[in-house]
Amino acid sequence: MQFDKPIALAADHGGYELKEAIKAHLTERGIAWEDLGTDSTASVDYPDFAAAGCKAVQEGRCALAILCCGTGVGMSMCANKMQGIRACCCSDTFSAEFTRRHNDANALCLGGRVVGAGLACQIVDAFLDAPFEGGRHQTRIDKMMALQGR
Ligand code: RB5
Repeated sequence: MQFDKPIALAADHGGYELKEAIKAHLTERGIAWEDLGTDSTASVDYPDFAAAGCKAVQEGRCALAILCCGTGVGMSMCANKMQGIRACCCSDTFSAEFTRRHNDANALCLGGRVVGAGLACQIVDAFLDAPFEGGRHQTRIDKMMALQGR
């Protein structure tokens, strides 16, 4: 799939190397990205980078976010606290594809200590190439988003 806006990339130290591999993969595919850090393996706090990646989506600057930490879990917990963000932590391509098709996920979270770069790039492709199917899934998303703040 082609996007009219870049993909936001953000990571903590546990996901830094994976972010760099994904960045190279997106470049190879001709997909634009915006790197919101971190820029080394020095220890940082993942909520800061989850917030930066999700803000780029909230503001409409980026189409989707890809967030990497050690497990992907911390990033997904943070991302799902942010207004309008639907984040999924994935370690397999099926979940990545269907979280776009059915959940209209706008953030993919990956664990640099869980998946290798090869699998992670396949997961990224499954996520980016799947369309949201709308219809009955939109009804469910409307109900999902109505849960925010309850
Ligand atoms: C950092 O050590 C680690 O806790 C973080 O990358 C992530 O796995 C949190 O969910």
